[in-house]
Amino acid sequence: VLSAPADDALTGVHVVVTAGGTREPLDPVRYLGNRSSGKQGYAIADAAARRGAKVTLISTSTLPTPAGVDLVTVETALQLQEQVTAVRADVVVMAAAVADFRPAEAAGTKIKKTHDPADPDAAPTVRLVRNPDILAELVRQRGDCARPVLVGFAAETGDEHGDLLSYARAKLERKGCDLLVANQVGDGLTFGQDHTTVHLLRRGSPEVTTVGPATKAEVAAALWDAVIPLLHTS
Ligand code: CTP
Ligand code: CA
Repeated sequence: VLSAPADDALTGVHVVVTAGGTREPLDPVRYLGNRSSGKQGYAIADAAARRGAKVTLISTSTLPTPAGVDLVTVETALQLQEQVTAVRADVVVMAAAVADFRPAEAAGTKIKKTHDPADPDAAPTVRLVRNPDILAELVRQRGDCARPVLVGFAAETGDEHGDLLSYARAKLERKGCDLLVANQVGDGLTFGQDHTTVHLLRRGSPEVTTVGPATKAEVAAALWDAVIPLLHTS
């Protein structure tokens, strides 16, 4: 028997990809956001559809929707969590840059400057609260089940306490997902760029697969090459 061609490898598999940076409202016109473009998540969704998957893309981005992909638009981390949790997927790829914190309350009307001559520099203080860790929650809900296969991303700068790979390894073990895609950020790297270098780490394996400098489409292909064996073993 011939093995199936590569572009059918995800036929019958339901994939959820999250993409873009969440926007956490301060008032009806302002939000706390981040520099994620969503491009990598869109490339991952596109690559999955080309390999035959049913793809749900949960996104904050306005990039063109790839062919054959179902788009669900969200803004906040809480909305993203609600939509991810609503799907019974075989694979969840958390490429979204989810805000760790949101304003404790969003004003119902536009926040205005005060014009108090006694205090001309008055400025509000924004109190933040933690958002749920969506990926960690998916790991917890999965329990001992083999599905969904869970893929995380880690954008790290590294610092005086550790480099990219040591932070990525610790994050993978802490989160408990199956695969972690780590990339170096800072100094104009990665965010919104067309070429990137990433490291793929598997839980329970010391091996690291480095991909790049590569296009986001090439990174997406490498990601699915790493996920497909996990679908067969688990
Ligand atoms: N993530 C998530 N929910 C959050 C924050 C992050 O699901 N509230 C997911 C991201 O989509 C990503 C992975 O977790 O796939 C790692 O995100 P990252 O921000 O690198 O990790 P954190 O655990 O938030 O740690 P850090 O303090 O380094 O930001
Ligand atoms: Ca974070």
